[in-house]
Amino acid sequence: MTELKWWQTAVFYQIYPRSFADGNGDGIGDFPGMTAHLDYLQKLGVDALWLSPHFPSPQADCGYDISDYCEVAPEYGTLDDFKQFLDGAHQRNMRVILDLVLNHTSDEHPWFLESKSSRDNPKRDWYIWEDGVDGGPPNNWYSGFGGSAWEYDAATGQYYYHFFLKEQPDLNWRNPEVKQAMWDAVRFWLDMGVDGYRLDAIATLFEDPGLSQQTATRTLTELRTAFAAAFPDAPSETEQSEVAAEYEKLFQYQIMQPGVHELMQELRTIIAEYPDRVLVGESDEISFYGAGDNELHMAFNFPLMRTSRITPQWVRQNQEERLSALPPGSWPCNTLGNHDSSRVYSRYGDGEHDAAQARLSLALMLTLKGTPFLYNGEEIGMADFDMASIDLFMDNLGVWFYHAAIDEVGMLPEEALRLANNASRDKNRTPMQWANAANAGFSPAGVKTWLPVNPNYAEGVNVAEQKSVPESLLNFYQDMLHMRRETPALISGEYQPLHTEAEDYLAFLRTSPEQTCLVVLNMSPKPQEISFDLEGKQSRLVFASEEKFEHLDLSELHLEPFEIFIGELE
Ligand code: GLC
Repeated sequence: MTELKWWQTAVFYQIYPRSFADGNGDGIGDFPGMTAHLDYLQKLGVDALWLSPHFPSPQADCGYDISDYCEVAPEYGTLDDFKQFLDGAHQRNMRVILDLVLNHTSDEHPWFLESKSSRDNPKRDWYIWEDGVDGGPPNNWYSGFGGSAWEYDAATGQYYYHFFLKEQPDLNWRNPEVKQAMWDAVRFWLDMGVDGYRLDAIATLFEDPGLSQQTATRTLTELRTAFAAAFPDAPSETEQSEVAAEYEKLFQYQIMQPGVHELMQELRTIIAEYPDRVLVGESDEISFYGAGDNELHMAFNFPLMRTSRITPQWVRQNQEERLSALPPGSWPCNTLGNHDSSRVYSRYGDGEHDAAQARLSLALMLTLKGTPFLYNGEEIGMADFDMASIDLFMDNLGVWFYHAAIDEVGMLPEEALRLANNASRDKNRTPMQWANAANAGFSPAGVKTWLPVNPNYAEGVNVAEQKSVPESLLNFYQDMLHMRRETPALISGEYQPLHTEAEDYLAFLRTSPEQTCLVVLNMSPKPQEISFDLEGKQSRLVFASEEKFEHLDLSELHLEPFEIFIGELE
């Protein structure tokens, strides 16, 4: 195979530590639980693990509010437990990357406690403090999570800036001491042997120092409501583009501000001191690839997942735009689900063919060009699970939404709850379903889990039962993942779309020096008779979700509804 880096050939699997496996029976996932399931992950066939934050945190934003960057949250275990997990993963040939939250700390981080202790504290300038204007906040900026981006601190008479929750004050990245402290934390884990980082919220690292007023005409609540109300469908295209334009104005001085690229270049030079590490950015901004491979190794292709219906046209257009925009030599990175988005099973399903759609989603991830990121639980078809009452919400984004919908928009509580569930990320973070047993085998019987368990574990949505059913989604994941490892064209091959007018199926070639594979995904409930004119070529079967002959004539290919077909040209 062409010489590629490990992260170019790998399939990543995101673990949400709080919900993966509870090793000590307290209702919360932890490192002993994760370590106990490393064999499972190895057998599944993933090559690298991305952990959402595992650091001490008051949990205002479910771990994305960090109060110590060089420790393990006590409820997840100790540093030794972490090391055992890391070693265990490495022994099984799996890499581990961590979540790096640079934009903000927790308001309980000792840095912030010092910073807010007085105006002349040496760490005052580690965060963004400003005087108010006319008895109000410094300007009209919003927090991306709702409300003003400024929080008043009565003790020192100034406001601090937070792009996310008020419990997540933004660090001042123009202060060299902040950089130094954070780069020390970055090295702490690299020295221990972690294989890289997924970079959280990098677009918001800097803001306009002039504090210019934003000029949007609609409020954030209005914009949010438009989306949540239409869920699981998207609002109309006109509405979407209007909303997108307003969003851009709303955050015009808070997102992608000067300085961010230089900072990423600096981080890249640190990473480069360690052999073979990777940086992947939580941003779809292609500019993060840098000029000449000097920033991040990858940035997520989020536009692909910004729909509730994946159609052949949608994928073709996405690939055309994304692949042509990437700088030469840079590597794509695809995902359809994570801890912030509705689950793949619920989101792309149509209620009738959800299981088939789930298989197609995986097939797409494993056959498109680029590194795929999967999210824990996807492999057994875990679905979104709405909270029955607002008291059960752990995601403050959902809680904020609930109150905003009632107080600002005047909704009735039941309607607000429905919308809050749509906006909240609790529904896609429920505990992993390991077995058809109490608490889905995540925690022992009788224990109250941190978020409710989706009761559909009793309807076959669990690991233990799916292991023993040959045609289960879990076994399908396993088969496809193992097939991909053996198929060089799917890993390194160039992408060439075929039959670009087809509305029901997606067809493309992947061509590497070793082989050319034809991929055909029937995305419709209708059978397809397709004729490929590939210089009269036959194909050898690589993978099919239905019975197929070992050798096939591609001039008359028959596909069953939702069938997945991969053949090597011969
Ligand atoms: C990222 C994380 C999200 C978090 C936010 C603030 O978007 O993925 O979960 O709430 O950053 O840290």
